[in-house]
Amino acid sequence: METAWKAGLEDVIATQSAICQVDGAAGRLYYRGYEIGDVAGAVSFEDVTALLWRGELPSAAEAATFKAGLEATRGLPAPVADLLRTLPRESHPLDALRTAVSLAATRDPDRQSNEPDANLRKAFRLMTLVPETVAAWQRIRTGRAPGAAPAASSHAAYFLELLEGRAPSAEVARVLDVVLTLHADHELNASTFAARVAVATLADLHAAIVSAIATLKGPRHGGANDDVLAMLCEIGEPARAEGYVEARLGARAGLSKHERGNPRVRMPGFGHRVYRVDDARARVLRGMAQSMAAATGRQKLFEVAERVYDAMRARTTLPVNVDFFSAVVYDALGIPPDFCTSIFAVGRVAGWCAHALEQFADNRLIRPRADYIGPAPRPLGATQRRRTETSMASSPKS
Ligand SMILES: CC(C)(COP(=O)(O)OP(=O)(O)OC[C@H]1O[C@@H](n2cnc3c(N)ncnc32)[C@H](O)[C@@H]1OP(=O)(O)O)[C@@H](O)C(=O)NCCC(=O)NCCS
Repeated sequence: METAWKAGLEDVIATQSAICQVDGAAGRLYYRGYEIGDVAGAVSFEDVTALLWRGELPSAAEAATFKAGLEATRGLPAPVADLLRTLPRESHPLDALRTAVSLAATRDPDRQSNEPDANLRKAFRLMTLVPETVAAWQRIRTGRAPGAAPAASSHAAYFLELLEGRAPSAEVARVLDVVLTLHADHELNASTFAARVAVATLADLHAAIVSAIATLKGPRHGGANDDVLAMLCEIGEPARAEGYVEARLGARAGLSKHERGNPRVRMPGFGHRVYRVDDARARVLRGMAQSMAAATGRQKLFEVAERVYDAMRARTTLPVNVDFFSAVVYDALGIPPDFCTSIFAVGRVAGWCAHALEQFADNRLIRPRADYIGPAPRPLGATQRRRTETSMASSPKS
């Protein structure tokens, strides 16, 4: 057996996919061949979702049908709202979302089927369920009732109106539309890979999305988005940024490799497994963060972010990643620090579904091997055998 292994599967090609291409050396990202900078803002998030799922941008008629398909699934299922009301208010928004999708799995009208048509219907429902749940949980945990499904014209506006209880301005809805597009897909990132692994066992689409949400939460992945905004708020003043970066990076000195893995001694929003330079999404988000911060009077936070960015540039070669400036955009949108990763999920569910549908269409169980480094085969000693028998005899009956 081939025993060469790569820690963290770095650079390992685990599948073929026609959905998304990442050029880490150049900092470029393509959805089905279209560069992200050309798509974001020029094509709606709904059309981007159709592109990811179907392979081509929809015609006007196809776009209208796709949008109508999404709108037909609107309305938070009452059992999901009831479930959310039972959760402790301090529950993390992603835990609430993961739990809600699990519940929805048990009530989905197509739960008995993994056929392509059924999966597509489920994908439409999940696209709507995720923003509805995220918005409902934010309202419930802050003592408000979830809003009734509004007749908003776009997916982004729908989410914002559910969240705020009033229609957003066209400009704010457009900003979120771009943010969702920038987050819609990113090849085999950890959560998408988790989704594909679940599908490969022929578990269902909801199981795949639950796996993805669970994986997104970690601070090495989407959880960094929450951490960035918390960090920027903690720094508070632009003048403190340089010293903060110095101290956080300086705390790494003398630590073991394992200890250097602790998120507290890493800078959230920096570093990437694939990119070697700042990626195109981060560049777009930086510009949006600047204009949104100016429009909403949150320049100070943007200035803190700029100073952190400069301090990191001066000290490391780590690229800034998508989570850094998106956190400033979320702050300008009034999103609290522990809620950023949930907005990430509202966009990324499009990519999770695209990859799940692709995996269903051409599936083989994903089952890699481990390079075993434990003890060689050895006999069980007589003393150990007696101890096992004794402990079994004395253990309480279950
Ligand atoms: C994204 C990330 C998990 C990629 O990890 P990776 O490819 O496995 O790289 P490693 O964790 O092996 O890091 C390589 C080196 O760079 C360092 N490094 C990586 N990201 C760092 C960061 N954000 N701050 C400080 N040091 C960092 C590591 O400590 C390691 O150095 P060491 O060998 O001296 O300990 C990593 O860069 C990270 O933890 N970033 C912060 C969290 C984040 O923003 N995640 C969102 C990603 S989109």
